[in-house]
Amino acid sequence: MLKTTEFAHLLIKENINSNDIVIDATCGNGFDTLFLANLVPDGKVIAYDIQEAAINNTKELTKDFNNIEYILGSHEFININNCKCVLFNLGYLPKGDKTITTKSNTTLNAIKNLINQFDKNPNMIIYLIIYPGHLEGSEESIILKEFTSNLDSKRYMVTLIEPFNQNNAPYLITINLKQKKTH
Ligand SMILES: C[S@@+](CC[C@H](N)C(=O)[O-])C[C@H]1O[C@@H](n2cnc3c(N)ncnc32)[C@H](O)[C@@H]1O
Repeated sequence: MLKTTEFAHLLIKENINSNDIVIDATCGNGFDTLFLANLVPDGKVIAYDIQEAAINNTKELTKDFNNIEYILGSHEFININNCKCVLFNLGYLPKGDKTITTKSNTTLNAIKNLINQFDKNPNMIIYLIIYPGHLEGSEESIILKEFTSNLDSKRYMVTLIEPFNQNNAPYLITINLKQKKTH
């Protein structure tokens, strides 16, 4: 069985061209940034994290690449054009400080901010990997499910990939604009 991050990577790979602009909204130890950097050799990855340790770990893991911009700062303030993918792998830094974790209010702000930018990023897909198995993650899960499940179905496509036979397993939500009809 594929892990939730592997499902996300599979979908991202299917929707990305080599010259695309993509965002890792939570670069952590750099594994997702590394995956994305390999997909866009002629494009760009922008990697965010609020922890210096995370940015340093990501820089170290991706030191052979020159298509990555690292931003020490919160993903709430993303402002982007022509972006194809924004990946949020939520929670805390594995092997790091478990008290520094994504928070439901800032994650929600970040998603709302991105949704307001769909007009300048019509082909963008937002990927949310959510971990309900820890305290903050459980609250984040409830709030994000509530928000995303109520997005206007005429304008947005929202999908959920969730292990069905397991409690509190990590799961994936994707959000994209429904394609405009040309006729
Ligand atoms: C589960 S880890 C990410 C794993 C990472 N993508 C990897 O491949 O190793 C979550 C990360 O989100 C970061 N984070 C928490 N709040 C954030 C925020 N507001 N903006 C950007 N990053 C944030 C944490 O510092 C942590 O490193």
